[in-house]
Amino acid sequence: MTRLSITPSGPINGEIPIPGDKSITHRAVIFGAMAEGTSTIRGYCDGEDCFRTISAIRALGISIEERNAELRVFGKGSWGFSEPQHVLDCGNSGTSMRLLTGLLSGQDFFSVLTGDASLRQRPMGRIVTPLRQMGATINGRKGGELAPLAIQGTRLRKTSHTSPIPSAQVKSAILIAGLLAEHPTTFCEPARSRDHTERMLQYFGVQLECKSDTMIHLHPSALTARDLTVPGDFSSAAFFIVAGLILPDSSITIRNVGLNQTRIGLLDILKTMGASLQTLDIHDDAGEPIGDIHIQSSHLEGAEIDPKDMLRAIDEFPILCVAAAFAKGQTRITGMEDLRVKESDRIATMAKALGRVGVDVDERPDGLVIHGGTQLRGAECPSYGDHRVAMAMAIAALKASEATTLTNIDCIQTSFPSFLNELRQIAPTCHVETS
Ligand code: S3P
Repeated sequence: MTRLSITPSGPINGEIPIPGDKSITHRAVIFGAMAEGTSTIRGYCDGEDCFRTISAIRALGISIEERNAELRVFGKGSWGFSEPQHVLDCGNSGTSMRLLTGLLSGQDFFSVLTGDASLRQRPMGRIVTPLRQMGATINGRKGGELAPLAIQGTRLRKTSHTSPIPSAQVKSAILIAGLLAEHPTTFCEPARSRDHTERMLQYFGVQLECKSDTMIHLHPSALTARDLTVPGDFSSAAFFIVAGLILPDSSITIRNVGLNQTRIGLLDILKTMGASLQTLDIHDDAGEPIGDIHIQSSHLEGAEIDPKDMLRAIDEFPILCVAAAFAKGQTRITGMEDLRVKESDRIATMAKALGRVGVDVDERPDGLVIHGGTQLRGAECPSYGDHRVAMAMAIAALKASEATTLTNIDCIQTSFPSFLNELRQIAPTCHVETS
């Protein structure tokens, strides 16, 4: 169990390299495998979650080479997979489990997916129910609500599915299964979740119509192998964006970050809180907008957060809570019940973590009210096994009154293995020690 000790820091300055986008990497690997031919993926996310998808795809008989910071996926077409000889372990990765369940539901063989203790508690009924309606036989604990999931795939039927929750993982599982179905699939959700799957499927040559922000119509078709460069992960950049804002006299730039509107709600939220943020050089690559972000330290003020913006910042909740702790006045985040079933119950874990360092927080069933602007103290704080909680609290520690010790921080490997190195580079006045 790795511990991290962080002393408070002075200003941070310079450029920060960010790993490739985790969501886009998962999709690039899966779609590369479903295409016929070789797809080269540059700038991929080297976090553990993406390696779970890579090893599962390898166990399904697809060769993937890692060379010179590139992945080469030797796809064999949508039905080129073979029955895995063993259980596929998705580790901590909800995206691996949910997207692969969609893929495996349409294959003519048996497979089993499992994960770590956190993933085995996360809701799977949201994908299992519609995939069963498409014809797959899926069994799991609690009637299929919890993994391990045992899947007997089949040739899937057409579906029209309306998801009760906005979720890119649900949408992607159904669209991937839809690629393997006999007839077109229509998918609707109550609000638009991240749209990387739609963009990348079109890039891989699939016929897909976005009838509106929340309704997609997909025609089952073959994927064409493509090369792509994965943009930097906005969700990883978010930690350093907030660090740059809260540490006085800081000025930092993050280059080549994904700036997809369905992901960057945090920028809009922070701007309403008074943040000085600029996006520059925005251009499109492989169907995704990319650009640079320039951040200057700012005096933040508390705000009432619009749930629509928060949906576009779903993974940024922990670091937004840290920004709110340093903002003057009250910040209220509501309407976000689904945060309770992420890698941890993020509403509860952030309330506990902030409470430990002296922040006044009220926990609500669907969010938090944070009374910001008081000096944070140093304390010992666990990561609760959640990579984003660990990194958010590491950033909070940069501006506490004394040293902070974070325990069980190995989970940072999930999405951002170089996080501590980057922290050491840009915050030379701060002491970062692991043991
Ligand atoms: C993801 C979708 C989101 C997000 C997760 C990654 C994806 O989950 O929280 O970290 O890659 O599709 P939900 O679809 O459950 O909202």
